[in-house]
Amino acid sequence: MPAFEIGAQDFLLDGEPLQIRSGALHYFRVHPDQWADRIRKARLLGLNTIETYVAWNAHAPQPGTFDLSGGLDLGRFLDLVAAEGLHAIVRPGPYICAEWDGGGLPAWLMGTAGIGVRTAEPRYLEAVAGYYDEVLAVVAPRQVTRGGPVLLVQVENEYGAYGDDPDYLRALVAMIRERGIDVPLTTCDQADDEMLARGSLDGLHRTATFGSRSLERLETLRRHQPTGPLMCMEYWDGWFDSWGEPHHVTDPDEAAADLDQLLGTGASVNLYMFHGGTNLGFTNGANDKGTYLPITTSYDYDAPLAEDGTPTAKYDAFRKVFARYADLPDERPADRRAAPALDVALERRVPLADVLPGLVDLVPVDHLPTADDMGHWSGFVLYRTTVSAQDLLVTVDEVRDRALVLHDGVPVGTLSRTEGILTASLPAAAGVLDLLVEDQGRVNYGPRIGEPKGLVGTARTAVRPLTAWEVGGLRLDTVDEPLRRALLDAEPQDVAPVAGPAFCHATFDSSPGTDHFLRLEGWGKGLVWLNGTLLGRYWSLGPTRTLYVPGPLVREHNELVVLELHGACTGLVSFVAGPDLGHTER
Ligand code: GLA
Repeated sequence: MPAFEIGAQDFLLDGEPLQIRSGALHYFRVHPDQWADRIRKARLLGLNTIETYVAWNAHAPQPGTFDLSGGLDLGRFLDLVAAEGLHAIVRPGPYICAEWDGGGLPAWLMGTAGIGVRTAEPRYLEAVAGYYDEVLAVVAPRQVTRGGPVLLVQVENEYGAYGDDPDYLRALVAMIRERGIDVPLTTCDQADDEMLARGSLDGLHRTATFGSRSLERLETLRRHQPTGPLMCMEYWDGWFDSWGEPHHVTDPDEAAADLDQLLGTGASVNLYMFHGGTNLGFTNGANDKGTYLPITTSYDYDAPLAEDGTPTAKYDAFRKVFARYADLPDERPADRRAAPALDVALERRVPLADVLPGLVDLVPVDHLPTADDMGHWSGFVLYRTTVSAQDLLVTVDEVRDRALVLHDGVPVGTLSRTEGILTASLPAAAGVLDLLVEDQGRVNYGPRIGEPKGLVGTARTAVRPLTAWEVGGLRLDTVDEPLRRALLDAEPQDVAPVAGPAFCHATFDSSPGTDHFLRLEGWGKGLVWLNGTLLGRYWSLGPTRTLYVPGPLVREHNELVVLELHGACTGLVSFVAGPDLGHTER
């Protein structure tokens, strides 16, 4: 079987120097029917390796589960990489950052009282061991040493930016080795002396993460990795988007020039991202460096291969660079063709309140639980109580992350973590008070990873603490049959204007298997499902203006469901020719 080693100068595959030209492609962000296509386009770019993280919480949404089916079939993904003649790098965390919900750490684990997140705390390590049992059983037989594609496995992720517990890293290494991983192990850290010093152990191969000033960054890395090949494990060739900020783009030629410098030194690279994909459903993470900023549904990343798998100007610029370092195939992927353009009129409208009983089981509580206390790990939680004419307002210690305030079903305000709005006025009347709280994505970077969602602390009115609540998490991961029935049973009508929160439903015909781009012009904020699959969140705040609809989800006859939280003056949505990821700063 082939050997893969870290030599004095180079990575050595069967004794021959190998410059790794890798690209990040997260299988959990791309429809499984599109994996082969994206991998092939990596080869056509000039890459010889595909890198993927493993998102623990995607595989284990509930304690005691581990799903490797469909879009989570890591083994099949790695087999497709091998079939394309490419190598693989696997970064199984357990923490991955990646603008992914909670940085991949399962919320059900983080909620365990006293758990030592990203430390050598025994209960945390025990859970990681269980995770490694599952995931490394997929990776181990696919190592290069056993005839598979996997060259390298990463331990943790940018640990030096977070922690300082070498025992933790040692424990991870031991667990990985015990599970049959015999290829070299790497760590990655930002190109910063302190982080590089804290984030690794001797015996692990240190790599760096950066997106510019390659030569300077490689020098920094060299101080910490005095021998062997240098590798940029994340060459940030674009950047992620947060709601309320401009769409991030980087200059293709500048990015290509830096890449050329990097490769010119003989260093290896992993493009972060080669192809970003989509944060489907509730899978996006968030950053909080003082202000909580949730990540958009699109994870296009301004990467060389766009969210819909089409080449960009950056793809061509990078391809020219890679051509200097390798023999490239002549073929270049086809440019984007216009997607089907059609307007769809929503035909049925049902107030959320009418279908709520089928979506949530409310449980009486006498203190304010977090969403995590309720065992609800993503999406929406409803908090219900009653108020009197004297209460006048509702105020909470903390909202994570955004809440609609409804008085007898009528929207009367919004609470927002990002905007620091913790109080809403109420009508001076007795009624039912609902706080519909949205988890906008669990923090994926920094000290706030692992924090609970929902309402945190206490809630009160102008005159008293609020204690008697009924609370429950909404089942919104898919449009289940009772909800679908309830929507279909509604009278067809022109749904405009839509006073939220309300579900709207439409049917439309289109070309099966064809990518679409959904634009919700005039709509406020909410969720969209196509044929039962939750595509993600839309929000007029932007920057994203269109949602990518992967072709494999599109049938000849389709059902579209929209949950609009605020309101829309229109009853139309449109499918448009191409993506609009919003305004940029450039
Ligand atoms: C770091 C992390 C990645 C990702 C990037 C930013 O490098 O390691 O997971 O979050 O930042 O996109």
